[in-house]
Amino acid sequence: ADARVTVHTEAGIDEIAPEMHGHFSEHLGRCVYDGLWTADGAGDGEFREDVVSLLADLEIPVLRWPGGCFADDYHWEDGVGPQEDRPRRRNLFWAQGRDEIPEESNRFGTDEFLQLCERIGTEPYLAANIGSGDPQEAADWVEYCNYDGNTELADRRRENGHEEPYGVRYWGLGNENWGCGGQMTPEQYAREYRRYATYVGSMDNLMLDHDLELIACGFEGHEWNRRFMEEIGHTAWGVDFPLDHLTLHHYYGREMTVADADEDQYDRFLAEALEMDEHIERIAAAINAVATTRDIGVIIDEWGAWHLDAVASNGLEQPGTVLDALSAAAVLDVFNHHSDVMTMSNIAQTVNVLQCLVETDGDDAWARPTYHVFDLYAPHKGNEAVRTSVDTPARELEDDELPLVGASASIDGDGTYVTVTNLDCREGHTVEVRLEGAAPADGDVDANVLFAEHDPDVEVDADNADEFGAEELDVSIDDDGTLTADLAPSTVAGISVR
Ligand code: AHR
Repeated sequence: ADARVTVHTEAGIDEIAPEMHGHFSEHLGRCVYDGLWTADGAGDGEFREDVVSLLADLEIPVLRWPGGCFADDYHWEDGVGPQEDRPRRRNLFWAQGRDEIPEESNRFGTDEFLQLCERIGTEPYLAANIGSGDPQEAADWVEYCNYDGNTELADRRRENGHEEPYGVRYWGLGNENWGCGGQMTPEQYAREYRRYATYVGSMDNLMLDHDLELIACGFEGHEWNRRFMEEIGHTAWGVDFPLDHLTLHHYYGREMTVADADEDQYDRFLAEALEMDEHIERIAAAINAVATTRDIGVIIDEWGAWHLDAVASNGLEQPGTVLDALSAAAVLDVFNHHSDVMTMSNIAQTVNVLQCLVETDGDDAWARPTYHVFDLYAPHKGNEAVRTSVDTPARELEDDELPLVGASASIDGDGTYVTVTNLDCREGHTVEVRLEGAAPADGDVDANVLFAEHDPDVEVDADNADEFGAEELDVSIDDDGTLTADLAPSTVAGISVR
């Protein structure tokens, strides 16, 4: 074997929050209209049932909406009530680089989103507008969604068809407020956040059954997050301020349109994806630098491949490739390693945009390779992550290094689940997996592999989409229980030991 994975089954890290497999959907390009919902202009519209069914099968734990930068200019009341009365607005941020100004019909609003979440069994995560909104508007949104009393807003929800409160738990207060959300300094954002959190957080007292979790949006730079945390500080009477999670966004890409895209470029792209590890460590350090008695979780609430040259003017649509899916597997392993600090992640974006999992074209909808990665990693959800050591060959890059084999592992009451990536797009690797303190025998092991038959840059469309599902992986077992498998170039394996 040229790579060895040791699973330290006794060295627990923490529970892998199911929310680590969350998603993000924004009113951008064809994510909502012609993605979650029928195309804009097709009457009032309805859910795209083909997409809904693919998403329901994936058991998405949490879905963030309505943006992104769109959320920084979104007024939720535009999107509730009779569809014919909803105003049509310009889509401010996503007009950039486009010949035609995209307009927002508001056909898909709060009730449509929350009912979608009910249908696919997902916890909603609403991002409130700090950029151009005000705290009253944000607190009203909470009241509309969650309040069970007899106020005008609770009654409005009932008139709009939802008798019971929706019980929305996750509330984002701001999105990229260092950029599209108002170009704020960390100190300015912290002050705005405090003001919003005062009113939104107070709503918690009115809804005995629904604990709100408040989320602030940080930055990739450590210093920015540290300054934000310092300014957030404590309330005047010395208790911690309502802040449950701090987030950052991390995208990475390559030049997709160059004619001579080669494996060197793939290596650099995968190494950039793995920088997620440092980002998580740095944001966790920023949180810890400020004394607090509360647990503040780390969320990566936008992440994935963003190939700048491929998406310039088309609503951020880019081809779905095996290479992108491989990067998602590598990042999900990183998340598992950080399950002690991470509480959620949301890949961008669910349908048609950026590293979507589902793509549509006319009447067709299909799963992209990244969808199959999430499916293969699903057994980790809710398990206890345990430490793994990986002895792997690495490839030297100009100013970086790419470990060619990666892994993560988790346990539940019945056994161990190990995911292994071969990030080498040139060569296969023979990988040994040893579970400390366990010696599995034939019959205890069930293993699957993704993409063994495919090149990393193969693009997926309606015609070939059904070729990318998991296949059985041959695993041999030594007398001492060591598992050995040959992993073809650019593949992902899931090994279950019971
Ligand atoms: O996902 C696309 C955009 O990326 C989001 O709107 C924004 O938050 C981020 O910059």
